[in-house]
Amino acid sequence: MRTSNFHSITVRFLRLDDVPALIRLEQKCWTAEQAADGAALRRRIRRHPQLCVGAFDAKTGEALASLFMKPVLPNTVAAARRWHDCAQADAPRDDQATRSLFGISLTSVEPRASWSLIRFFWPHALRHGWRDIYLGSPIPGLARTVAKCGNVDVEGYVNERRGDLPRDPQLRYYHRRGFREVVAVRPGYFPHEQSMDYGVVLRGRIPLSRLWPLWRCVPLAWLQRMSGIIDALT
Ligand SMILES: CC(C)(COP(=O)(O)OP(=O)(O)OC[C@H]1O[C@@H](n2cnc3c(N)ncnc32)[C@H](O)[C@@H]1OP(=O)(O)O)[C@@H](O)C(=O)NCCC(=O)NCCS
Repeated sequence: MRTSNFHSITVRFLRLDDVPALIRLEQKCWTAEQAADGAALRRRIRRHPQLCVGAFDAKTGEALASLFMKPVLPNTVAAARRWHDCAQADAPRDDQATRSLFGISLTSVEPRASWSLIRFFWPHALRHGWRDIYLGSPIPGLARTVAKCGNVDVEGYVNERRGDLPRDPQLRYYHRRGFREVVAVRPGYFPHEQSMDYGVVLRGRIPLSRLWPLWRCVPLAWLQRMSGIIDALT
């Protein structure tokens, strides 16, 4: 999905007064059943304001991309059968209990905006010591493949490659952004017609996060100046 006529992009942590613009963005990218409503968006921002990021058209203020995350225990991800189980579960109370995040949702109408979210968040992730991000990806090529080929082994489809990249367009999209480890393939994960309701739980390591003891001592502004190198690291 792409916008036209947008100007330069402003990226920042989300605020409650962004919710009307975020609802408009949700409505552009998700079906009525899939889109988060205002209450869900407010809840995410209130609970984890440092893990909710948005990109906006600098001139009009329209939201171009949003990313909502929360802390998660890897065991919760492994046990979850549905997106809802991770998205709604209470985050660990102790902020030090986990170094992992769950990407509740990524929504975008402009590829430069979605990439700018990753670049913006990376220095904050290094500073905080986050190591990896889990997310549940749709596999929108599945229904089309089943219609063409009949019965399809879904795990086989997920692992199928075209050259070095996954066959499914959305898995390919995430692969290019560093989400390369398939943790689980879940039937009935979320309502998504083209994916026949399957979801694929992916894990992406945050580049250079193993050096956290070092990054903790480095000023954020210095890490922000480094953020351009993430293009080369993913
Ligand atoms: C997935 C999403 C965030 C990507 O947004 P973006 O960074 O602005 O990038 P684009 O939408 O231009 O997609 C880039 C490429 O990824 C691939 N892709 C990503 N998602 C896809 C999908 N659902 N179906 C088909 N192709 C998809 C396409 O191949 C596209 O290639 P193109 O450049 O040839 O068009 C956006 O499409 C979106 O908000 N989709 C709906 C919500 C969603 O599925 N979110 C992710 C699950 S949490």
